[in-house]
Amino acid sequence: MKRVSRSRLVAAARAAMQNAHAPYSGFRVGAALLARSGHVFVGCNVENASYPVSLCAERAALAAAVAAGCREFEVLVIVTTSQFPCPPCGMCRQALAEFGGDLLVVLVGSDGGCTEFRLQDLLPEAFTPAFLMEPRPRGGEP
Ligand code: THU
Repeated sequence: MKRVSRSRLVAAARAAMQNAHAPYSGFRVGAALLARSGHVFVGCNVENASYPVSLCAERAALAAAVAAGCREFEVLVIVTTSQFPCPPCGMCRQALAEFGGDLLVVLVGSDGGCTEFRLQDLLPEAFTPAFLMEPRPRGGEP
């Protein structure tokens, strides 16, 4: 696999953030998702006049990756205009968990300060595709 630097991912997420459509919240978000193949997929938040229709940056990046045939991911970088590194919302955590909990989620503040987590720590006991199988997977008891 071709190695992709952290700084390249941050730059890609920041470039996508510039394209955010966020006229209602004024809160711009950019995401860069590194696939195991070495490809980088970006997303930004896309708000809508019908507010609940709005899409988060993370799920926009994920959809672009899946549409390109990538389903294995290593790193997700999330940037906002806030000084404080912002974590992904619950819906995005669930969307990402579909593809594995090992994903490294890197949150980058506007001043470059960052924090990182494994997705499985951001969404413990996630509902995953394994739960749709019979018999119930190990650890699947309520
Ligand atoms: N937003 C994201 O893009 N990702 C998140 O994980 C949290 C929130 C967007 C949605 C909305 O456009 C704006 O940030 C304010 O909630």
